Amino acid sequence: MKAINILISAVVLILSNTTIFAAGDAGAGASAYSMCGACHGLKGEGNRVMNAPKLAGQDDWYIISSLKKFKNGTRGKGDPVAAAMIPMATMLDDKKMEDIAAYIATF
Ligand code: HEC
Repeated sequence: MKAINILISAVVLILSNTTIFAAGDAGAGASAYSMCGACHGLKGEGNRVMNAPKLAGQDDWYIISSLKKFKNGTRGKGDPVAAAMIPMATMLDDKKMEDIAAYIATF
């Protein structure tokens, strides 16, 4: 019984830790987002002409995971349209990605 309690505590701890992720600062994200708005729209509404999808309403964790993939080269390479995102994501560190995702969540 004791072992089960320890196991349950461990699982709860792991689950609660994962929610700490994406605790960005929306205020800081607002200024970092200014360069994104040129393609994605000031309110993340997307812009078909720029091939830039809507970001408003998207999950913060997905925004962050997409930015990481563009930065580490697992997304966008060899695709002339998507490659536009590589230099954008490369400019951002993890904290900025979280801040931007928090700002997008306010749209
Ligand atoms: C030069 C235009 C341009 C700029 C500036 C730009 N993006 Fe993008 N973004 C794109 C394009 C084009 C795509 C579509 C990529 C694809 O087809 O996979 C995209 C895709 C994305 C995606 C993936 C969306 C999804 O649903 O999978 C995210 C997230 C994103 N951009 C965030 C940003 C952020 C944050 C910034 C500012 C730091 C930014 N973008 C700046 C053009 C741009």
